[in-house]
Amino acid sequence: MLIKNAKLLDGRIVNIKIEGEKITCIGKCTGDDVIDAEKKLVIPPYFNMHFHLDSAFTQVKNKSGTLWEGIRIWQEIRSKLTEEEVYRNATTAVKLMVAYGTLWIRTHVDVTEKSLKLLRAIKRVKEDFKEIADIQITAFPQDGIYADKGNDEVLRKAVEEGADNVGLIPHNEITREDGVKSIKFAFEVAKEYNKDVDGHIDETDDPNSRFLEVLARETINNSWEWRVTAGHVTAMHSWDPAYRFRILPVVAKAGITVVPNPLINAVLQGRLEGYPKRRGNAPIKEMISSGVNVALGHDCIMDPWYPLGAGNMLQVLFMAIHLDQLTGDEIYNSLDLITYNSAKAWRLKDYGIKEGAEANILITEAEDMIDLLRFMDPPRFVIRKGKVIAKNGKMIFYKGKWEEVKRKPISY
Ligand code: FE2
Repeated sequence: MLIKNAKLLDGRIVNIKIEGEKITCIGKCTGDDVIDAEKKLVIPPYFNMHFHLDSAFTQVKNKSGTLWEGIRIWQEIRSKLTEEEVYRNATTAVKLMVAYGTLWIRTHVDVTEKSLKLLRAIKRVKEDFKEIADIQITAFPQDGIYADKGNDEVLRKAVEEGADNVGLIPHNEITREDGVKSIKFAFEVAKEYNKDVDGHIDETDDPNSRFLEVLARETINNSWEWRVTAGHVTAMHSWDPAYRFRILPVVAKAGITVVPNPLINAVLQGRLEGYPKRRGNAPIKEMISSGVNVALGHDCIMDPWYPLGAGNMLQVLFMAIHLDQLTGDEIYNSLDLITYNSAKAWRLKDYGIKEGAEANILITEAEDMIDLLRFMDPPRFVIRKGKVIAKNGKMIFYKGKWEEVKRKPISY
């Protein structure tokens, strides 16, 4: 395959030659099977570093709009959901994400649902999509590891049954002590099974929630650097600047990737206050300038925590840009938040538009970064391992044939 007239992020117009699954030439290459990129931006595909496939499309109205009411609603929903419903909803969500250019998805699956039907459904999704997307499953103890007897053992069982990462939610444990204990337990399981740790950390407006420091301590103690992710960390927004100044370099030293989820947390946080109202987003610029690796997550589509969501990571980036006021040159570097920074956390080596890399490419509709973010169009072509697998956000090549992408599950 030859992509001609491709505009790279540095502004060069080049041809890109793909042989098999690899990019073999960038420049004045020639070849057959030509796609004309028409001088539009050609970029590497996106990552969604934090998502909940098991709750997608289970939307029920959350009156207070808080995380806590969302959790209560979810506890009722999850007991009624069948494995088939979860499978149907999750496949719809993954197809949308792939059509919008996301090829790596890290999903949490609630394993405080003790029958593990949610895990079984999402394991099937992971398997069914393996030709067009890489999905990692995090065993996520939504209610807390010590909130209910036996949650610790179910978490361990979920990892034994194929979860890729160990999850935790220390701020939802009953006491600070339980929260600290849950972090130690997560590392114990992660080390026992050689897994990464992927936590929900400090997702609250409460400035006293400081589990990120414990996570950093345990990461360093266990030599688990670059194997740990902290999702949300919205309390960071409310921490005293002097505390952030001290702790962020430690987080950077521990190689922890922090994953803000700006769509959902802009909706969930600050619900208990009037105006002026705090915005619930971990400060991205401050983290980056302290050397912390930052990547973004979409978190939810139409579930008890977030009523919207299209599976488009550009919407996530757009929201992050607004909440953290990324302007000027920052806007041009912001694409790293859904591409290269995530690839680092995923430990992908041959990622990017370069000779010798795996041929994973988005041919966009945009002339430059500004237009990419102004219009947030789906890519014209999504290419994975040298093959076109999605077109215009509308068609996807799934299980050997082309099909139309649905915006909601069929029987929704
Ligand atoms: Fe989450």
